[in-house]
Amino acid sequence: MIRNEGVRVKVPASTANLGPGFDTLGMALPIYSWIEMKESECTQFHLYGDQMNGLSKDKSNLVYQVAQLVFDEAGVSVPEIEISMYSDIPLTRGLGSSASAIIGGMVAANALIGSPLSNDKLFDMATNLEGHPDNVGASLFGGIITAVWDGTHADYIRLEPDNNLEVLVVIPEFQLSTSEARSVLPDQISREDAVYNISRSSLLVAALSQGRFELIGRAMSDRLHQPYRASLVPGMSRILEEAPNRGALGVALSGAGPTLLALVDRRNLRKTDLETYLLDTLREYGIEASARWLDPANDGVIISENIRFNSFLDMIKGEVEA
Ligand code: HSE
Repeated sequence: MIRNEGVRVKVPASTANLGPGFDTLGMALPIYSWIEMKESECTQFHLYGDQMNGLSKDKSNLVYQVAQLVFDEAGVSVPEIEISMYSDIPLTRGLGSSASAIIGGMVAANALIGSPLSNDKLFDMATNLEGHPDNVGASLFGGIITAVWDGTHADYIRLEPDNNLEVLVVIPEFQLSTSEARSVLPDQISREDAVYNISRSSLLVAALSQGRFELIGRAMSDRLHQPYRASLVPGMSRILEEAPNRGALGVALSGAGPTLLALVDRRNLRKTDLETYLLDTLREYGIEASARWLDPANDGVIISENIRFNSFLDMIKGEVEA
């Protein structure tokens, strides 16, 4: 039942919330992590690249832990595994690096033992760990997901991103932990703010599914988390207000931040101006950042076939240079 040659998976990054859809909406982005997993005589880790700094190389490692959750759930014992990891996803910037590690570890572990658990089951398990389904859902299923978590089970619908939808992410050099960015949120909000967000989040999902780009900007505004997080990302409030007049369809904090995300119509001719505006504005507030233009990732996690023909290191070299 165990695949002796091991398994390798490729997992996309993700952005969560898209403005009003706090803990609800997610979109997969084409920045990737790779995880390889094999049964072994003793547990060992091979961690490659800058984004692995600080990750533990013992059984407290998150990928090891989630693999064991999958084996337990499936009733299979695989106590010792060899794990290789490489990631291009920046850590603690609001691009779902921990969600990608959870999904990669779970999907690899499940594939290693012949895939007894469904993706829907893995989604429930991953959401239970993260506490919200937005990032893990996007990394697992790809595209755009809208999801509901009842504490045990996640219901979701995956939307196919419109072909003309492009994403600009501006990634500040500083890190912001999700726990810090959640600690500033109030426990209670007014009914008026609740209605403000429910209505916009619903409109955003409908606009994204029907390609109604003209509604995206107004639908992306939020009163549930971004106003409270503004002090953690200097320049953000100004950007949220001004970027729609500089060529963005809509703009939001990516997940818990500090990355900012603009949705753009790829036919727009002002893309360079928009990028310059975002970088210059952050710089005015003393923040250096890098910009990346991305298409939404239509695919979620992918299990590689035929991994015996190239080593993990050769694979990374090929993928990263490609
Ligand atoms: N929905 C989450 C938040 C995403 O905004 O806190 C970050 O993990």
